[in-house]
Amino acid sequence: MADNASAPTRRIVIIGCSDGIGLGTARKLLDDGWQVVGISRSRGPLEHAAYHHEVLDVGLPGYRAKLAEIVAKRGPFDTCLYCAGIGASCDLGDLGPDLQVFQVNLMAAVETAAELLPRMVRERRGHFAVLSSQADELVVPEHPSYAASKAAMSAYFEALALAARPAGVRVTNIRFGFVDTKMAKAPVRPFLRSTDWAVKIVVRALAGKAIRVTRPRRLVPLVKLLRWLTAWRIRW
Ligand SMILES: NC(=O)c1ccc[n+]([C@@H]2O[C@H](COP(=O)([O-])OP(=O)(O)OC[C@H]3O[C@@H](n4cnc5c(N)ncnc54)[C@H](OP(=O)(O)O)[C@@H]3O)[C@@H](O)[C@H]2O)c1
Repeated sequence: MADNASAPTRRIVIIGCSDGIGLGTARKLLDDGWQVVGISRSRGPLEHAAYHHEVLDVGLPGYRAKLAEIVAKRGPFDTCLYCAGIGASCDLGDLGPDLQVFQVNLMAAVETAAELLPRMVRERRGHFAVLSSQADELVVPEHPSYAASKAAMSAYFEALALAARPAGVRVTNIRFGFVDTKMAKAPVRPFLRSTDWAVKIVVRALAGKAIRVTRPRRLVPLVKLLRWLTAWRIRW
């Protein structure tokens, strides 16, 4: 994906850029000559002449207004990658953390699209990519909000992708299995992949036109089996 000398510099905003897949993707794109603006609650380790970081919590009220200020100051962006994500264990005595999961994983992603997509559509170019999960197909009693937020995220952004395609704007939903970051804390992590592996998939997706990217493919039958088992539990 290296830009050639005559190509304009690509500008991306990565939300969730201090760690994990977002951080790895930022490093790779900077190596490839992109200008990157990162947003997350902590500054992260990235230092680069073409990198600027904004400390911002997407889960707090006023996120969209602050994002608009960042876009006015540092944009416009031809590409956005929404990586911010959290999970919460089920606690029937306190569902507050679930609200935060929906805010960070879903509502702030929609707010980000609301801020960035109209300009892309007006200019008839741009790419908005989100990191969802293969868990979007599951009902998970141990972490109900994570899978549910990803289900809504996948359905919403794949619908936006179809709606935006005639306007020349690409929207991509990237659905990973287990990637070895601090997010993947489950005791059993079948077909676990490295962050570098995930970054390669993201960078390839940013260069392509696919609406849905599901990796690793080997996890797909296991997800289908889990979905079938849960459907059986719900029914009986
Ligand atoms: N790892 C996996 O197995 C896996 C599998 C499927 C999908 N995914 C998805 O991939 C995305 C990235 O996950 P990851 O594994 O790279 O996780 P990670 O290492 O935990 O990184 C998450 C990033 O999101 C940022 N973030 C979290 N809450 C935020 C908030 N309120 N405001 C701003 N930034 C926030 C974090 O930065 P700060 O803490 O500094 O704010 C961090 O930079 C997530 O959406 C996740 O659901 C991951």
